Amino acid sequence: MHDAIRASLPELVQWLPWAIGYDRSVAQRFVRESASAWNDGRAFDFALRLPDEPDFHVGNVSVWPTSMPNRIGEIGYWIRSDLTGEGLGTEATARALQIGFEELEYHKVILRIAAGNERSDRIAKRVGFNYDGMLRHEVRVGDNWLDHSAWSVLELEWPGIKRQLRADGLLRRR
Ligand SMILES: CC(C)(COP(=O)(O)OP(=O)(O)OC[C@H]1O[C@@H](n2cnc3c(N)ncnc32)[C@H](O)[C@@H]1OP(=O)(O)O)[C@@H](O)C(=O)NCCC(=O)NCCS
Repeated sequence: MHDAIRASLPELVQWLPWAIGYDRSVAQRFVRESASAWNDGRAFDFALRLPDEPDFHVGNVSVWPTSMPNRIGEIGYWIRSDLTGEGLGTEATARALQIGFEELEYHKVILRIAAGNERSDRIAKRVGFNYDGMLRHEVRVGDNWLDHSAWSVLELEWPGIKRQLRADGLLRRR
């Protein structure tokens, strides 16, 4: 994971606060916290790997609850820069959405995307998220406050979206 992050930093620092000033200890802390968060149900972080190269870290996708009483969860992701543009981000997001509805039983799954992150906007649209609006100064990345667009899928929309994702080959039958 460290190698994948290091090779992707010029892209990651534009959008993800943890990438600023990144060093190996950030990855080590993430792995430790990830394991305890998984055990406590606070977050579910997945390492993305290709079936024929299981030791090569491709990126991460995470699903976590933002409101337990309302059963709302959020998805976040990054893909190593030398493997972008191959559909991996879209496929990982589709699968995380499925986990959100079918395993974690969320009522709503949201995405927040920094204004200007067009590739990520395209993932949201392609997967079938609804555009809900713009949140002002939602996240500080370095010295900049970034507005974020808010996107969501509701539980009742999931069956139709799932059918479409399968038809598009973005979700495998399991
Ligand atoms: C955003 C990100 C996850 C996209 O990952 P990816 O694996 O390239 O995603 P996909 O291959 O599924 O492509 C998503 C869209 O971006 C476009 N895209 C991806 N890489 C591109 C590139 N190098 N040049 C132009 N377009 C590109 C794709 O064409 C696709 O759009 P389409 O479906 O309309 O054709 C990746 O660039 C990344 O990790 N960025 C930094 C971290 C980040 O922004 N995380 C998301 C925070 S909300």
